[in-house]
Parts: sequence; C-alpha cells; structure tokens
Amino acid sequence: MNHISIIDIFNSEDYFSKEVNICGWVKTFRANRFIALNDGSSMKNIQCVIDFENTDPDKLKKISTGAALSINGEVVNSQGSKQSIEIQVNNFEILGESDAEVYPIQPKKHSFEFLRENAHLRTRTNTFSAVMRIRSSLSFAVHNYFNLNGFYYVHTPIITASDAEGAGEQFRVTTLDMKNIPVDESGTIDFKKDFFGKETNLTVSGQLEAEAFAMSLGKVYTFGPTFRAENSNTSRHLSEFWMIEPEVAFMDINGNMKLAEDFLKYIIDYVLKNNSEDLEFLETRLLNEEKQKPQNERNELSLIEKLNFVLENEFKVITYTEAIDILRNCKPNKKKKFKYLISEWGADLQSEHERFLVEKEFKCPVVIYNYPAKIKSFYMKLNEDGRTVRAMDILFPGIGEIVGGSQREERLDVLLNRIEEIGIDKKELWWYTDLRKYGTAVHSGFGLGFERLVMFVTGMSNIRDVIPFPRTPQNAEF
Ligand code: 4AD
Repeated sequence: MNHISIIDIFNSEDYFSKEVNICGWVKTFRANRFIALNDGSSMKNIQCVIDFENTDPDKLKKISTGAALSINGEVVNSQGSKQSIEIQVNNFEILGESDAEVYPIQPKKHSFEFLRENAHLRTRTNTFSAVMRIRSSLSFAVHNYFNLNGFYYVHTPIITASDAEGAGEQFRVTTLDMKNIPVDESGTIDFKKDFFGKETNLTVSGQLEAEAFAMSLGKVYTFGPTFRAENSNTSRHLSEFWMIEPEVAFMDINGNMKLAEDFLKYIIDYVLKNNSEDLEFLETRLLNEEKQKPQNERNELSLIEKLNFVLENEFKVITYTEAIDILRNCKPNKKKKFKYLISEWGADLQSEHERFLVEKEFKCPVVIYNYPAKIKSFYMKLNEDGRTVRAMDILFPGIGEIVGGSQREERLDVLLNRIEEIGIDKKELWWYTDLRKYGTAVHSGFGLGFERLVMFVTGMSNIRDVIPFPRTPQNAEF
C-alpha cells in the first residue's frame, strides 16, 4: 500500500473508516498506547492507538521519540477530547529506531542556539518545520507573482568575473594549488594559469546579467543564491543568502518602487491565505515570548496583525534628504543615543537610523530614494543635481533594509565616468557597457533579501533560523 500524507487524512473525509498506511516520526509515546506521529506534511500530529496487549513487548520498546514508523490502521473518531480523528493501529513496522536517551530533540523547549548546533534535526520541531514550510510557500509565491505578471525567470551565473556591487567582499573561486601559487614576472598571482584563465568569484548579485536579459526579454527576474564575504556577525547577515532580483526595461524609479510594493504585498497575502496554521503557531509562540518582556518593550501588533497592517497600508515614500532632516533633528540624535550620530548630508544610514524611521517615526514600511552617489553603487542613474542617484531602499519594521534597488545608468558616457571614478577595471565590464551602445533604454530593478523577508513573515529574530543550513563567518557546518 502506498503511504498517504497525514495532512490528507485531516483534510479529506474520504479516508474515514478506511484502512490507510502512514509513515512518520514519533513525537511522543505515552501509556504504552498512544503515539503522536508527525510526517512533516503539516503542524498536526495524528494520534495512533496501539493494542499493546497483543503487541510484542520488544517491538513496543522500540517506539521511542524520534523513531521512524510505518503504520497501517483505520481512521476512526477519536475517543479523546484533544483530537477529532485518530488511527486505530492494525499493524506497524519500525523503519528506523531512535535512542531516546540521546536523541537531541526531546519533547521539551530547546533554545534556538542549541537547535542551530543540531540544524540537521531542528526541522523536527514545530517552530522550524513551520518556518521552513512558510519559506517554501514564499518561494512559490515569488515565482507565481512574476509568472502572473509576464516576467521571465533567468538563471544568472554563480561563478563570475565581475563584482556587481563594486564592494570587493567576494569569495574567490580557484583551482590553483594553494601551496604553490603561480606568479608572473612582477611577482603577482598569475590567474592565467587558473581554471578560467582569469580571477573569478562567487556572485554577490545576479543583477548585471539580469540587465542583459531585461534589455532583450523586457521583464525578467532571478532568484538564486548570492555570496558575501563581509565579516558581519549580526542577526541580519549571512555569507550565503538567496536574493530575488527583478529587472525591467522601460521602467523608471517610480515604477520600480510601485513594483516592489505590489510584489511584497502579493507574497505576504499569499502566505496569509495559504499558511494560516503555521502562522498561528508562530504567532502564539511570539505572544508567549512577548509576555516575558516589560510592558513598554512589547510589540503593539501580533504577527498576523503586523502582516495585515503591511497589506492594508501604503508604504511611506521619502527622499534621502528628507530622511536626513528627520534623523538630524530627532531625539536619539540630539541626546546622542545613536552610536553613529547624524550631523551632515551624505552620511550612510546605519541600521539604528533605519529602524528609528520605520519603528518610531512612521511605524510602517518606508521607501527612501535619491541617495548620495558617493555611498551607492556605480550602476545607479545619476540625477540632474550631479550628486544624488536614483537608488531606493525599502525598510521594514524589526528588520531594517529588506530591498535595495535603483534605476540604472543608461547613458554610456556617464556610466564610464562612474566606473572610472570608483576604480573598477572597465575591460571586465565590456559586455555591460555594450548594453548602453546598442539600443540603450531606461531600465530599473531591485534585490529582495529572501531570508530577511522570511524573518519578517515568521517573526524569527535571527536570520540563521530562517535558512536550512546557515553560512556565517567561522561557520559552515552541515
Ligand atoms: O542592497 P543590495 O546589496 O543590492 C544588490 O545586490 C543589488 N544588486 C540588487 C539589485 O538592484 N538587483 O542587496 C539587496 C538585498 C538587501 O536589501 C538585503 O535584503 C539583502 O539583499 N542582503 C542580505 N541578506 C542577508 N545577508 C546579507 N549579507 C545581505 N546583504 C544584502
């Protein structure tokens, strides 16, 4: 008999009074009789009732927390008050035993730090299985949105010779012998001898290649892993994270801001409609956590209220200059409460400033645009004032920056000047500048950090807890 998913038994009356085969892992086993079985298909465990008097005692002993079981039994009305249906077990097989004494996922509360060290098993817990089901749903919603709106999906390369962000925080890809690195006459590393005949790295963004596709297919997006070698050990940074990057020809910065807002609202609405059980579980978890905090530090909105709030309200749109004026005159700046005080136009916004704007000043998602050229990437369109670029960042409550994007510089001469100013080798970008020679046009795009979105939607406070196996400085276990 083919086994069926536990969620299907709860969702369909067709199985009632029938014999089914289910497989899963034991969450708890009590009174030598009641197994709570979970197969990951949903939050719900199904109670399986064993006729222990007629079962081999040695086999009974092997039903322990974490063991994998295959159960044949009839779906019946439950005698207990906690569940509507249960399985009356006819026979069962122990597929894989588990030593309950040392099984790390005991039926009790574990700290997230402990579970990070056991990331291979942490999705057996309610919290992590809920987070990962929501992550899966969000990915699906991303593809759905773009598919419904006429975008093509592009697989941009992971190994690249161009530094898309010009920040130089990349992981090198090489097959050179580290113990015997070839050098040329001047003593510098001879990358001609390397696998690709040039210096290559893991990509920090698929944007530049996506631009080439936007300038032919019109509306495209990438959704893939990106890598950053910055030594940021924070709760919002990963060394390997997933980014969604749409790129659209003939669209300016205003269209870009509207697209980002519409897209974010669609995917949040999607999980509210399709993941209610997991969201409700995470909401209760957070409410219990909130109770431990002093009254004045508690969130005003619950998780689901916060998601609905984002759906129902327009994002606040302000220029960088307006943001600086607010920050310069705000209480924490005047009282020197910020670590980085804002004194003049041109300062880079730190996460404390972003969070002040979102959480204290506007209390809603904020879009900031027209940033100083000096603090932004070379490819952003220079405004007429000669000192700002058409960049936009979207800031979310509890997260800070979730989206970074811009209208791209489509004028060849201006782009070449910017490349030179920043000191990037323009020979490496010959194909990128070519796009400005043959049918150049206004175009724009943005990057959404997928894990930051998952954090926002699930209410998890550490980015390491929303990706299956996190990569961070000094940590590549699993
Ligand atoms: O602002 P960023 O660096 O933008 C780009 O890479 C552009 N090329 C995107 C584009 O225009 N196509 O990164 C975009 C987003 C950030 O807003 C943030 O959400 C996320 O990527 N991000 C990170 N997420 C996790 N860990 C990190 N180290 C991240 N760095 C950026």
